[in-house]
Amino acid sequence: MTHPVTPTLDDLAAVGAAPAVIEAAPRKRRDGAHRVAQRLDAIAYGGDYNPEQWPEAVWHDDVRLMRAAGVNLVTVGVFAWANLQPSPGAWDFGWLDRVLDLLAEHGVAVDLATATASPPPWLARRHPETLPVTAEGTTLWPGGRQHFCPSSAAFREAATTVAHAVADRYADHPALALWHVGNEYGCHVNVCWCDRCAAAFRHWLAQRYGDLDALNAAWGTDFWSQRYHAWEEILPPRTVPAIPNPSQQLDYRRFASDALLACYLAEREILDAVSPAVPVTTNAHPHLEAQDWWRWAPHVDVVSYDSYPDPADPEAHRAAGVSADLMRGLAGEAPWLLLEQAPSAVNWRACNMMKPPGTMRRWSLQAVARGADAVMFFQWRASKAGAEKFHSAMVGHAGTEGSRTWDEVAALGAQLPSLAEVAGSQVAADVAIVCDWSSWWALEQPSHPTALRWGDQLAWLRRPLDDAGLTSRFVAPGHALDVVALLVVPNLYLCDEATARWLTDFVTAGGVLVVGFFSGVVDATDHVHLGGYPAPLRTVLGVRVPEVDPLPEGVTVAVRGPGEHRGHATMWREPIELAGAEPLVTHEDGWLRGRPAATRCRHGEGVAYYLGARLDAATTATLLAEAASEAGCVPPLDAPAQVEVVRRRDDHGRSWLFALNHSEEPVTLTVPTDCRALLGDAPTGGTLHLPAGEVAVLREGSGEGDEDHAGGDTAATKG
Ligand code: GAL
Repeated sequence: MTHPVTPTLDDLAAVGAAPAVIEAAPRKRRDGAHRVAQRLDAIAYGGDYNPEQWPEAVWHDDVRLMRAAGVNLVTVGVFAWANLQPSPGAWDFGWLDRVLDLLAEHGVAVDLATATASPPPWLARRHPETLPVTAEGTTLWPGGRQHFCPSSAAFREAATTVAHAVADRYADHPALALWHVGNEYGCHVNVCWCDRCAAAFRHWLAQRYGDLDALNAAWGTDFWSQRYHAWEEILPPRTVPAIPNPSQQLDYRRFASDALLACYLAEREILDAVSPAVPVTTNAHPHLEAQDWWRWAPHVDVVSYDSYPDPADPEAHRAAGVSADLMRGLAGEAPWLLLEQAPSAVNWRACNMMKPPGTMRRWSLQAVARGADAVMFFQWRASKAGAEKFHSAMVGHAGTEGSRTWDEVAALGAQLPSLAEVAGSQVAADVAIVCDWSSWWALEQPSHPTALRWGDQLAWLRRPLDDAGLTSRFVAPGHALDVVALLVVPNLYLCDEATARWLTDFVTAGGVLVVGFFSGVVDATDHVHLGGYPAPLRTVLGVRVPEVDPLPEGVTVAVRGPGEHRGHATMWREPIELAGAEPLVTHEDGWLRGRPAATRCRHGEGVAYYLGARLDAATTATLLAEAASEAGCVPPLDAPAQVEVVRRRDDHGRSWLFALNHSEEPVTLTVPTDCRALLGDAPTGGTLHLPAGEVAVLREGSGEGDEDHAGGDTAATKG
């Protein structure tokens, strides 16, 4: 069949591409947040600091104000490459020496960037091949930022050179607390389509599949005359006349994520060699779909994240909560760092609202509630020039005088020290949500029964959990589930046999599983599991789905159940055949009248729910409440839906309750009588009054034995 002209891997690498093969060892310890918190003896507080944009006289004002605002950590040098290395052989570190010395003198620690996020203009002039190219073939030029191709050997060489120079110079600097590699890899350019990437892709594919026969089989290339007979014929899925091959597209997403990860790893290796004791991070960005973060996370000492909820959206805290939980999941439930957020408005939405009074504080504390041990901003001082001059900053254009943003920043900086004892603790969450990037990417490809978005499916099943006050964590397929009682799968379109076994084992071990529709449809190569959906999950769910019938926008169909509850479905329905499951919700309309829309299948103590329609919020909430009660999940406190309550606890038996009132009404909560307030009004006799928009942080229990733990004696005195 094939007559492969199979080049060796070395041949493929020899075309000049930097192979995207992940060889670096995963981190043994993910205690970077702990190491930073220990060093600071506090929750980290500060922001991106870009002193290169300011005359030196301003720096002295900066450090004075940093102290006034309670800042203990700043991120320096993220976009400083062109200033540090004016030309290939020339270095100018003097200014950065002085900045770091000044910060150290004033007790401000540094998250020091390797400065590789935005290459200097000279690199593109000398090596135009370092520039990324779009699927249509357009080159992305310098003048913005992140204009590098991850497969460019020249970029890799230049980036590792500057990273090495920075590492060598500052490894022993007293201000250094954390290394910051790159910045938001993949935020603007997460996929490049150039010839170098094409060559690196072939190399990646050769590693994955071994030979062309296996690749042709995996990509289903007998469809539309796509069979490859030579590696050189294979290209990235660039703009094509018709729908591009889905398996090829999926592999390109995987490759692109690995290609950027290889850039990160090249720098990390240098930092490890030069300063093994200093933790290393790279900040994830809100376009979470861009990369397979499960593959990245094992390579950082601490997960860090940049969160930008929209102040115009009254429900924005929900998505922020999801991201926080996902970051904690990536960190293996260890603390993570909120490395950026806007002090108030951003500059990149169509209309950039300020955060209303109290919002920045509440969202900051939400991150801490959900496991963050740092509250950081972009940026310290608002730029005078450049694309981000209208982005809010801790110190705005007008200075501190009369600035509500500054007042709120300084007030939060004064309050965070009272939470020092919380740093290092974990979040209590017995609901787990399954997230898998390959499945996410495969789901969102074109030419499916209807356009489904993973984030939308997630929001559908996560909302009732939030409203019920249940805290979730995120897991990848295959993760250990010992502390998980309820496992929720919003969608797992791509589900291989091993994942199906993992889900099945969870149920047979007595767990409660909830699976959303259009799951278990394809294998890891995006080929359909035959014999009726959701093939590898049919037994555990006790259903068989011979075909699917999505609903056009605006069409609503009636459903009934559980019991006499009346509801409706939109977007999706399917003719479920029962194969061991019992119906919980049934269709009332059209050709599916009387057929199940949601089911439950029991396996001894274990239970598997299947939602075969996009059910309305109330019906979904009823089903999830039933699943949660079967799993024995209880919220930390009884609270209305707009009040978020999360518990953190440590290994010494201490625990803290965070209560965040996102509503515009005051609420009264019943809390354990032996709680003490670290933030907010003290509860009296088990009653906590929480004004609109306010936050309370309570230490639970009498606090006996606190003497054994650093920081544990602060609670009684801070209100
Ligand atoms: C982030 C980025 C920062 C800054 C910020 C503005 O994505 O890391 O450098 O651009 O956005 O909101």
